[in-house]
Amino acid sequence: MKRRYLAGDQVCRGNLILVNKKHPLQSPEPADRVIFPGSGEELKAEAEQALERLVKAAEGEGELLLQSGYRTEKTQRELYADSLAENGPAYTAKYVAEPGCSEHQTGLAADMTVKGAPEDRICPEFSGESAVRFRKKAAEFGFIERYPAEKEPVTGIGAEPWHFRYVGVPHAGLMEQWGMTLEEYVNFLRKREGSRIICRTGGRQYEISYRKCPPGGMEIIVPADREIQVSGDNVDGCLITLISDAGEGGVP
Ligand code: DAL
Ligand code: ZN
Repeated sequence: MKRRYLAGDQVCRGNLILVNKKHPLQSPEPADRVIFPGSGEELKAEAEQALERLVKAAEGEGELLLQSGYRTEKTQRELYADSLAENGPAYTAKYVAEPGCSEHQTGLAADMTVKGAPEDRICPEFSGESAVRFRKKAAEFGFIERYPAEKEPVTGIGAEPWHFRYVGVPHAGLMEQWGMTLEEYVNFLRKREGSRIICRTGGRQYEISYRKCPPGGMEIIVPADREIQVSGDNVDGCLITLISDAGEGGVP
């Protein structure tokens, strides 16, 4: 077994942080940003690499474009103000997160569009055959469609078929399989503190659990032979994912 110390601010950091109207971004803006080819737009490095692989797998290089990735709070404030002036409050509340509450500020959100689509900074077009292929493969590469039409009461945002959020593997696949938004997934795991969700995908086994994390941090003890990923939920705890090769470190 090995010990790992989780600092109190871990709650606000990681691929699974929930950022919405009720849960503003609390962590500093991401420093490890990389430009996505052909766009000038940046994403957090891990999300950028995954997006490049996804676009390639969808045979969409040069056709599927990142219209908007990382935004500063200032950029979000300007977008919000421009939308209020141009589109009014109802449209803006439906499609633009309030400054401080946008996933784009995490560097983990990607607004996608297709080459030649009419320019629309808020609601870009994302359709066609390569977009369909992208959507089908998104979860395999760690992305979820973050604002499905039927989940507007849960997310508080209108349908945005162009907005994808990187949450990583295997979480994206589980959310897709269970039909859960990030709000619902985080809540599902929080309610099961003390138990483990076990799944296998891509030749690897994942054990996911939730631990409430006090402001002073905490120590966790994990098997020495497992890779460990930790993400805060941006509420009060951490989602801990232990990874091993499927077949090894089997389910006891
Ligand atoms: N369009 C999404 C909700 C944002 O502004 O972050
Ligand atoms: Zn977006």
